[in-house]
Amino acid sequence: MAQLLITGGAGFIGSHTCLVLLAAGHHLVVIDNYDNSSPESLRRVAELAGPGASGRLAVVEGDIRNAADLERAFAAAPADQPIEGVIHFAGLKAVGESVRDPLRYWDVNLSGSRQLLASMQAHGCRTIVFSSSCTVYGLPETVPIRETAPIQPINPYGHSKAAVEQLLADLATSEQGWRIARLRYFNPVGAHPSGRIGEDPSGIPNNLFPFVSQVAVGRRERLQVFGGDWPTPDGSGVRDYIHVMDLAEGHQAALDKLMKEAPQLLTVNLGSGRGLSVLEVVRAFESTCGRPIPYTIVERRPGDAAITVADPALASERLGWRTRRSLAEMCRDGWAWQNANPTGYGG
Ligand code: NAD
Ligand code: WQD
Repeated sequence: MAQLLITGGAGFIGSHTCLVLLAAGHHLVVIDNYDNSSPESLRRVAELAGPGASGRLAVVEGDIRNAADLERAFAAAPADQPIEGVIHFAGLKAVGESVRDPLRYWDVNLSGSRQLLASMQAHGCRTIVFSSSCTVYGLPETVPIRETAPIQPINPYGHSKAAVEQLLADLATSEQGWRIARLRYFNPVGAHPSGRIGEDPSGIPNNLFPFVSQVAVGRRERLQVFGGDWPTPDGSGVRDYIHVMDLAEGHQAALDKLMKEAPQLLTVNLGSGRGLSVLEVVRAFESTCGRPIPYTIVERRPGDAAITVADPALASERLGWRTRRSLAEMCRDGWAWQNANPTGYGG
């Protein structure tokens, strides 16, 4: 089993992935500055992983932009079992905020990644799984989207992700031995089925699923559906939602592949290949929680695409991984989390 460094491991996707990796027997060091998360998530991960596993989880509060903080994280691994691989989740992800404050996004996402890669190089660690995003495709010309589609992001968040992807490719060219996976996630939703860990956005959620669950739990009055005249079967936007536990297992599959094969640069979509409309999500959530989700159809949101769906064939071929969980499971687990934790980790 490997000793791994997980950046941003206290966050939504990171916490679920930590749980999957602990269950698989790995030893983890997490570095997180809690900019968008709470130490409580990792306490619950340790609790869910069980007494045998929690001794394999070390947590370092620190910032990936800070070389000294990263040194502390590398030093948290035992001397005879140094960090062999990194899963790099840490970053900022709110599209609108990135438009308002591009300097911060380029700083955390690009400078943070650059510092992380420099620290890895200094420690002779050349295995990294990077959280990229379908956002690098911008407004797709054809769907489903293949990995060969043009990279043409339309906002600073997307530009920063595309830049890190490029940096990773440049590194792989510059020096032999790098094992790199660039994973382009589509729309991660849901929670661990225990309802103990889940997504805990601060402020008003930007994304559909957390907004819908906050309406269901009574924290918000009604959903605004952004556009009812898209060229889709019911007029609302279509996306490729992926259960966060499927996504966590996708990271495990990518890491296993990198560690057992020759050095490589792997780029894959992590999605289901199945499009679901906003109104389908609303109806499924209503039937799960047994409550109506009031909504109003309003103007389209600037920058949105009508349909964004992954072609998941390459992930299946290269990783032997595909999504297994249904929309009903996304709603069931997301609702279990929201209902038991109406104010997230703060409540
Ligand atoms: P999240 O905000 O829940 O998790 C990110 C974590 O990184 C948080 O715990 C945050 O505190 C930490 N962090 C931020 N800046 C840091 C810094 N400078 N140093 C150390 N830690 C820092 O987000 P998430 O949804 O779990 O996303 C994880 C990654 O996946 C991000 O890189 C995001 O861009 C990417 N991604 C997310 C989605 C999505 O819809 N959730 C989709 C595609 C890609
Ligand atoms: C989904 C659908 C909206 C909120 C975002 C990021 C992307 C990636 C995934 C990180 C769309 C509609 C939403 C609401 C609505 N993240 N909607 N009312 O925009 O596909 O992707 O998350 O990398 O970069 O942009 O996800 O959840 O915001 O929207 O009608 O209150 O729901 O118009 O059709 P999106 P989303």
